[in-house]
Amino acid sequence: MTDKQLNIDQMVILLSSGIAQRRLYFAEHPKIKDLGGDFIAHLGKYLKATEQESLFIGVFDGKLVHDGHFLVGPSIAGGQLIKFSGLLHSGGFLFHEDVTAQEISSFLGLAAETKEELASLAEGRALFEFKGIVNINPSAIYQDFENLVREEDKTIWKGQDQSLGHLDSPILVYQALFDVVTSAHGSAALNRTLDIDNARSVSEYLLQSTQASFTDIIQMMHYPDYDSYTVGHSVRVATLAVHLGSKLGLNDEELQELGTAGLLHDVGKSKIPDEILFKPGRLDNEEFDIMKSHARLGAEILMEHHAATALDVAAAWGHHLRYDGGGYPDSPAWAVRNNLTALLQVCDVFEALTSIRPYKAPMSPRKAYEIMLENDGAFHPGALHVFIRTLGMYPPGNPVRLNDGSQGTVIDAGVDIERPLIRLTQTADGQAIGVENDIQVDLGAPGSQKLAVEELLGDWESVLA
Ligand SMILES: [Fe+2]
Ligand SMILES: [Fe+2]
Repeated sequence: MTDKQLNIDQMVILLSSGIAQRRLYFAEHPKIKDLGGDFIAHLGKYLKATEQESLFIGVFDGKLVHDGHFLVGPSIAGGQLIKFSGLLHSGGFLFHEDVTAQEISSFLGLAAETKEELASLAEGRALFEFKGIVNINPSAIYQDFENLVREEDKTIWKGQDQSLGHLDSPILVYQALFDVVTSAHGSAALNRTLDIDNARSVSEYLLQSTQASFTDIIQMMHYPDYDSYTVGHSVRVATLAVHLGSKLGLNDEELQELGTAGLLHDVGKSKIPDEILFKPGRLDNEEFDIMKSHARLGAEILMEHHAATALDVAAAWGHHLRYDGGGYPDSPAWAVRNNLTALLQVCDVFEALTSIRPYKAPMSPRKAYEIMLENDGAFHPGALHVFIRTLGMYPPGNPVRLNDGSQGTVIDAGVDIERPLIRLTQTADGQAIGVENDIQVDLGAPGSQKLAVEELLGDWESVLA
């Protein structure tokens, strides 16, 4: 990823999480002030590097667009910004170089308090002016998709996604999963009824995703969502579980059950105070006890819903129970462990180890497997072995470099967990290979013995102690 892209990603994440934070904190709160300062620093760097005076971030079809490219990661994390743009009838925002931290704070405040659609874009612009926001302009909606997005970028994600249809678009599927978990947690926090049927229908999207779009969805997992990592975590656990379940030959009904249970397994966390949930350091004993109660609380919340299945409840209750009977919550001796919960437990731990958190870099899958295998008795041995076998050392969606210098994206694990199926993205001499060429290398095939994966690319373990 180039620095420029990184700046854009950071700016969008700052704005979107800023809108959410602005609902919790007042404008003068240090958190909000820091955020404005951070945004301006990124904007300054970006404008200097590109020799421009302003930055335009467009919104089209529920996704963010910049400089002719769909922004994949920011589109998932940037839901709040996309929503605000929609309420304004705008097609994006233009940020001028003179924008101040005060204006960013006012922008976030306005976005946080705008709940209903405005009558027109003109009304939105008048509001901006009224709030003293002169260096951020909401722009008109693009009628002309052809001109907004470059020809080579009309495909959303590495070219696999040729359609803008809902079910075929990995970004939209991922966004829908994100939304379902966010609203389930939000409803639970406020003691409102959860829309479990909706979770069930959205988890059906996962089943209907093709192998190609599933790979894309896993790629999206690497976008950090610092602000809402419980949500991202639940989406990733559900996605992994459905992938695993389908490799195990579960039928569609079981897979949908599994996906829904994965999406809702941590819903009890909505009852844990933020100071504990987001505490950067170690929890003391009392705090840890409160944290642990999320499993029981989640099961209790789900039990109140007729639409919740036995698996939903069992997964919320049992996903921190160890195979050897340890873990939490304390469970009666007669309780029978459900195999699908055992599967979710493996996905849950693997996800926690390999994902990005504000305080740690992701652990490589290899390291995560080592730790899980050493942790004798924690996991159902069958579930853990199936998991490793199915994902392999280089899980689908990850970029890798081969020993001949070429690079590619893993599409599927092979029979040998070190030798996956790969779609090449770059030749040995550094030439990009378009996805339309679809050149695949099966490291498990007899003809590819000389080739091997040399390195898993990405930011794995960079700051891990
Ligand atoms: Fe949990
Ligand atoms: Fe979890």
